[in-house]
Amino acid sequence: MRVLVVGGAGYIGSHATRALRRHGYEVIIYDNLSTGYKFLADGFELITGDIADPAKLAEVMKRADAVMHFAAHAYVGESVENPRKYFQNNVEAALTLLNTALDTGVRKFVFSSSCAVYGVPLTVPIPESNPRQPVNPYGASKLFVENALEAYDRAYGMRFASLRYFNAAGADESGEIGELHEPETHLIPLALAAAAGKGAKLQVFGTDYPTPDGTCVRDYIHVNDLAEAHVLALEQVTKENEPLALNLGTGQGYSVMEVINTVERITGRAVPRSIAPRRAGDPPALVADSKRAQQVLGWRPRRSLQEIVSTAWKWMQRRA
Ligand SMILES: NC(=O)c1ccc[n+]([C@@H]2O[C@H](COP(=O)([O-])OP(=O)(O)OC[C@H]3O[C@@H](n4cnc5c(N)ncnc54)[C@H](O)[C@@H]3O)[C@@H](O)[C@H]2O)c1
Repeated sequence: MRVLVVGGAGYIGSHATRALRRHGYEVIIYDNLSTGYKFLADGFELITGDIADPAKLAEVMKRADAVMHFAAHAYVGESVENPRKYFQNNVEAALTLLNTALDTGVRKFVFSSSCAVYGVPLTVPIPESNPRQPVNPYGASKLFVENALEAYDRAYGMRFASLRYFNAAGADESGEIGELHEPETHLIPLALAAAAGKGAKLQVFGTDYPTPDGTCVRDYIHVNDLAEAHVLALEQVTKENEPLALNLGTGQGYSVMEVINTVERITGRAVPRSIAPRRAGDPPALVADSKRAQQVLGWRPRRSLQEIVSTAWKWMQRRA
């Protein structure tokens, strides 16, 4: 089976392409390199193009049996300041992608959704049944695509899996690919950069949350555990089972302070930091209830926070 990996020159997509290849799939990467990197696609066929370009997309879609869709803008804060940019790329262009798949007869679709679709959760750990009430345009854009996929499944038989990631982190164990966001906003690379003396002091946003140590709690999932879940989700989509909407997290939350302590232990260096006020819209804790993904996919996240930090550290040092 040949999979069109859209956004495959990005962080999570580049790990998924390698997981697909390990499992015997052929891969074509389609990416406009807006936030992705050519070298992350090394060894794979890369078509440089935008998902908003239906003609270019249709040419390559004709050669594919399934789509994995990672291409999106993904900064929550920026989506609040510039929603137009987010709706244009994550909704309008995503619809072009979906319609091109439909028009060329591709009916298998795996979508990068996000825990941002839940907004402020009713309960933590968060089950898939939690109401989807996003509180920012980024989350709203992900929910739109989830809804479109549900409608296209009912109307046109588009089989899909919406995978709601929690916090993707870590890097491939080879050290060859890893996280590379510009600007970087994620805690682990920022803490590592601060420890390495390469970045600014780490800002800890809020120490008065109702959590054990007062800092925000998040669910960090190793990018290769995510990548493996994508391969398994594609298998399910191929079996033409019910459409899937699954949380991908570990079910274990770590506070900002716990992450900092882990970074200090693994690097052997202090993380210079300062305390900043809470950021608007940051819920105290976001942790996945991922039992459903484990049951349906027969998947288990295998890598610990230590492995997340040590692979990310190896990746950062290799690039230094
Ligand atoms: N990183 C996380 O923790 C996280 C959490 C939840 C969901 N997600 C979602 O996972 C997906 C991948 O995230 P990432 O962290 O790997 O981001 P990334 O920026 O590294 O990857 C996105 C890739 O898509 C490409 N792209 C963007 N718009 C495009 C377009 N119009 N046409 C063609 N290519 C385009 C970019 O060039 C890039 O290579 C995104 O959809 C994101 O919303 C990420």
